[in-house]
Amino acid sequence: MTPDPGEIAHVDEIVSRARRSIDDASSETDLREVENTFLGKRGELARAQRSLGQLDALQRREVGRHLNAARAQLEALLSERQTSLHAEARALRLAGERLDLTELVEVRRRGRLHVVERTRQQLEDVFVGMGFVVVEGPEVETDFHNFEALNMPIAHPARSMWDTLYVELGPPESVVLRTHTSPVQIRLMQRQGPPIYAVMPGRCYRRDTPDARHIPTFHQIEGLVVDHGISFGDLAGTIETFTTAYFGADIHSRLRPSYFPFTEPSAEYEITCTICQGAGCRTCSNTGWVELGGCGMVDPAVFEAVGVDAEEWTGFAFGFGIDRCAQMRHEMPDMRVLLENDVRVLERL
Ligand code: DAH
Repeated sequence: MTPDPGEIAHVDEIVSRARRSIDDASSETDLREVENTFLGKRGELARAQRSLGQLDALQRREVGRHLNAARAQLEALLSERQTSLHAEARALRLAGERLDLTELVEVRRRGRLHVVERTRQQLEDVFVGMGFVVVEGPEVETDFHNFEALNMPIAHPARSMWDTLYVELGPPESVVLRTHTSPVQIRLMQRQGPPIYAVMPGRCYRRDTPDARHIPTFHQIEGLVVDHGISFGDLAGTIETFTTAYFGADIHSRLRPSYFPFTEPSAEYEITCTICQGAGCRTCSNTGWVELGGCGMVDPAVFEAVGVDAEEWTGFAFGFGIDRCAQMRHEMPDMRVLLENDVRVLERL
């Protein structure tokens, strides 16, 4: 008997469909599916193979040989296609992972807070950690708050310690750009009675000639403590605690007798010059020390001006420069850079 042309033709038809599917497969996954469909255990060739049982011996041998050839041919095509799909996928992945090291990426430049503002926040943090609250007051002040209530009546010679900028508002010389943050003490005590533990940061103005340590628009942080039994020892301890907390254990503080109309006794608060570590340099006028500010026990006349009973309460106050702190902490020989807004300098601070 001759082989049944129907069986042979069926195998050829499977092969030609399989070839098309192999060509059409666009990924290795597709290809595996094609392989399953045609060459798998339950695939089309396997099915054709199973139907061989119905043929006589001669036909079975002929169709069987044809089937084997078809399987071999499809396996070769599959493996060839598999190799090229694999290479394509790899090339694509490499292209995706390629880093162009010559590419110039535009960097977004981020701004940040000015060093004086950061210093102010750090100082506030130190004092808040010591139990103080933060209070603010206006930058344009009345003569009463800036001078009079601080025990400097009109025409008092102590006023000449401040190079005052007057504002043309109301009677002559009645409104000023505040020369210090001390008037905030007055406003706070007018608003609330003791006990008080507060720091008052803010901007101040003086008709000063700029130099390495002075700028006419500057910042201070004021401190006020009023309670039962507050002594000069509490003041000295607070100053010392602050100095180590903010500048580190290597920087020392000292208090030197001084005069302020609103404190009695009064002292100047100085720290080791951080620029020269105390050896003496231009910034500290060769003294090795830099004055941060003043302090003292609140004068009873101040308590009287705001209606606090000086028989019952005692207190201390201090005020020092925020810009000066920034200068010492960041070792800036000249404070004027703070106003020049040279980004190259500010970025380094
Ligand atoms: N207000 C003073 C100044 O600007 C600094 C100062 C001294 C503040 C003594 C105080 C103080 O609170 O008790 O020079």
